[in-house]
Amino acid sequence: MNFIDTGVFEKQKVRIKNLLPEIGIEKARAEIIAGLTSKNKSISSKYFYDEIGSDLFEAITELPEYYPTRTEKSILESIAPELMNRNSSFEIIELGSGDCSKISILIEAVQKVNLENVNYIPIDISKSAIENSTAELLEKFPDMKINGYVADFIHQLNQIPHSEKPRLICFLGSTIGNFSKSDSTKILRNLAKGLLKGDSLLVGFDLVKPKSVLHAAYNDSAGVTEQFNKNILNVVNSIIDTDFNTDDFNHHSFFNHEKSRIEMNLVANKNCSVNSPFIKSPIYFENGESIHTENSHKYYLNGIEELIANSGLVVKNSYTDPKKWFALVEFANKS
Ligand code: SAH
Ligand code: AVI
Repeated sequence: MNFIDTGVFEKQKVRIKNLLPEIGIEKARAEIIAGLTSKNKSISSKYFYDEIGSDLFEAITELPEYYPTRTEKSILESIAPELMNRNSSFEIIELGSGDCSKISILIEAVQKVNLENVNYIPIDISKSAIENSTAELLEKFPDMKINGYVADFIHQLNQIPHSEKPRLICFLGSTIGNFSKSDSTKILRNLAKGLLKGDSLLVGFDLVKPKSVLHAAYNDSAGVTEQFNKNILNVVNSIIDTDFNTDDFNHHSFFNHEKSRIEMNLVANKNCSVNSPFIKSPIYFENGESIHTENSHKYYLNGIEELIANSGLVVKNSYTDPKKWFALVEFANKS
């Protein structure tokens, strides 16, 4: 996450552009301060992903308890040959591309002769994730053209240039589940607008499953999710110069059955306060008070249909694993 460095990085067929300075650090500061000074304190989950946060997320994906990544990858492996050989020249746009290991599974299935006709456009708020993953992709697929964007896919999607080639838009990992129902509907509606006839949108949805499995995935025994959650305070310290001490907060994550989502919080373990040069008075936390850091919605298959109602999308294909723990849904534009 870097709101300051502009400039373009170019190496062979890779080009990376940082669009975050166009949002500006002042906006990020204002958003964080508004969340921390509201009645129910919160920090947007997009602030998890500085370099350490991206590394910790990658470590989470390898935990025995964190089933979503390996489940989604198993589905991707089975659908890749059909999905990736419909056209000989196309463009892949990926929102929240992370370590790019999922797209790698899809690209692996593209016929070698067609690779030079593939444009890949990863978009991620994490500068380190874009830089490291595109370097790895370049090694694996030197013929493919990569135009990466360090950008906020909520506010900056319309600034990303694209070609006339058929498009596959990917929004994997159930990152959609980190948004409220109304925001995810808005995101899907916005994506639908960019889909032409023959284009596809592939979205990963984590499904409802036994509560014990969900609880373990967000309360792993090695404590990596706890570190990931607490690291958001270090990111906040670096953006608004606060003096948060991560030891003053405990990781608390639970499944809210009624809202069908994991809710992740940081709970103060004593009365404490933080200061910042960007706010007039300190922010106080009472012992037991929560900062909400993330929701992670878990879906029912029929709820997905509800989510796309009035979005302009139709379901083209829906794929799941034998346990029905994760779904990959391919959408097309209705018209
Ligand atoms: N798709 C990958 C990564 C999921 S983690 C996978 O399935 O493993 C979520 C990713 O989305 C992170 O890499 C994070 O940096 C990125 N992200 C979160 N909010 C974002 C936003 N508003 N704009 C752009 N990227 C965002
Ligand atoms: C990125 N996102 C879909 C992850 C999730 O499962 O909601 C982030 C995460 N939070 C805790 N563990 C993983």
